[in-house]
Amino acid sequence: RRHLLGIEGLSPDEIVGLLDLAEEFVVLNRQVEKKRTTLRGRTQINLFFEASTRTQSSFEIAGKRLGADVMNMSVSTSSVKKGETLIDTAATLNAMHPDVLIVRHSASGAAELLARKVDCSVVNAGDGAHEHPTQALLDALTIRRNKGRIQGLTVAICGDITHSRVARSNILLLQALGAQVRVIAPPTLLPKDIERFGVEVHGDMRRGLEDVDIVMMLRLQRERMNGSYVPSVKEYFHFWGLDEAKLRYARPDALVMHPGPMNRGVEIDSAVADGAQSLIREQVEMGVAVRMAVLDALSRTLPGNSSNA
Ligand code: CP
Repeated sequence: RRHLLGIEGLSPDEIVGLLDLAEEFVVLNRQVEKKRTTLRGRTQINLFFEASTRTQSSFEIAGKRLGADVMNMSVSTSSVKKGETLIDTAATLNAMHPDVLIVRHSASGAAELLARKVDCSVVNAGDGAHEHPTQALLDALTIRRNKGRIQGLTVAICGDITHSRVARSNILLLQALGAQVRVIAPPTLLPKDIERFGVEVHGDMRRGLEDVDIVMMLRLQRERMNGSYVPSVKEYFHFWGLDEAKLRYARPDALVMHPGPMNRGVEIDSAVADGAQSLIREQVEMGVAVRMAVLDALSRTLPGNSSNA
């Protein structure tokens, strides 16, 4: 494939292939010398129209460790601020002959639109409430490394499902690899078309967490709540925040995940986020390895690559 626009459309074999490749980069990243030459001579542009800590920095590190020249486009000081459109911005960058464009945008479908307008590979680093494929891949790698499998696990995704691209990509990936997925959310933060995802839906946190192997917490995406009901922090934490008492309803060996950024005391208590069952720091480490795997896999499709099929 030339682009990575979403988990939708990837086969289970393609997903497992990327996870297996990422395992090699986990080993490399723990060594003193971390550089490869896979992308030597190639140009990677990170084009983030929305804020990011983890995704942007790990794509930059991933590209550099594979030998690419990486340019972080500063959208806040770019001509986007003067009214230049997404398409014109992409066409401008395309004229500079990049090989890979990593894009994050507030609009669902933005990455796919760009992929049709530019000559290089496009990776979706999060488009609106649609997909965040590398987040789902790094979550799957973290789960597989800790549980030894994904098939047959029960995973609860909790919180603001409506506005979450992380939830969508994770539901697609986890189901593709044979996990049972539950969502636990207030009715106001559940998508109207939740039935089409084929997940078990719970409105009560304690009932929803029973016998769960993985608890995946989500942030309230207030920036996407245009006029919809926004609960108070105190109310939300009381009913939907993961603390040690609620976590005891899950399996004793359940593990806790969060894509970040976390809002401590809103959707997750610090005692859980920093506790023995938390995988949150490991998720960040896996993010670099997964993004290296994605760039490595895409590099095989670039013009001039001898392994280009
Ligand atoms: N999980 C995630 O996408 O984090 P950032 O917004 O910091 O990139």
